[in-house]
Amino acid sequence: MRGLAFAYPADFDTAWSGNVPEFACAANSVSLMMPYVEPYVAKSVHAALPHIEDEVLRREAASFVRQELSHRVQHRQFNNLLAERCRGIRVLEQLMRMVFERLGKRRSNASHLAFAAGTEGVAYGVARWAAAHRRELPATAQPEIANLFVWHLAEEVEHKSVAFDVFQAVDGSRRRYIWGMILGFSVLALFTVVGTTVQLWQQRRLFRPTTYLRLTRWTITFLFELLPTMAASSLRGHHPRDLADPPFLVNFLRELDDRTAG
Ligand SMILES: [Fe+2]
Ligand SMILES: [Fe+2]
Repeated sequence: MRGLAFAYPADFDTAWSGNVPEFACAANSVSLMMPYVEPYVAKSVHAALPHIEDEVLRREAASFVRQELSHRVQHRQFNNLLAERCRGIRVLEQLMRMVFERLGKRRSNASHLAFAAGTEGVAYGVARWAAAHRRELPATAQPEIANLFVWHLAEEVEHKSVAFDVFQAVDGSRRRYIWGMILGFSVLALFTVVGTTVQLWQQRRLFRPTTYLRLTRWTITFLFELLPTMAASSLRGHHPRDLADPPFLVNFLRELDDRTAG
């Protein structure tokens, strides 16, 4: 686990992505979910630890839990700054808390793990889209904030197989895994749409044609990236390790580790 701390500029702007503010609104909405989805995923994998016989996988799973909780910490700090600057964020966070508390009350541990493994597959798809479309972010975007997202997505790629392996070791039902993936995608998509709408409304950008053009283009390219990955992941015999790691994200972590070691 990397002990990182992100510092944000004093003139922190919630629309930090330069002349494409819709990009920041969508990314911020994903960030808002992290203090709820990460503990749920981490708790699901943590609960499975005593049932994992393979010692190597057990160690990987314990490290996965720590890594996901470190994502939660960094996004919590960032989200507090968002909430101070954007009305409606705290209400949205309450709604997210309620949804994840409801998901956590389901009785089957296998369902929790399926959600964790499926959501990790969706996170990998997000990482792949972001790596391929990173040039959508103009040079005027604030790098300190962009780095938070790049770091998180790079670590999602780094540990993309762990929750799946834990699910396989404990349950392994492909049907449950597919359901977990669809449920994870639906919850993430719903809150991304709501969060983006709230922020665009606050910024008085909700009814601009350029807003819709950009969001529609990104949604289409994202679905073209994610849906084939989800379809491939649904096939019997498929394993997340079969999916290629985006070199941009692999290199980002390599350089980060080199710098930290230095
Ligand atoms: Fe994460
Ligand atoms: Fe993850």
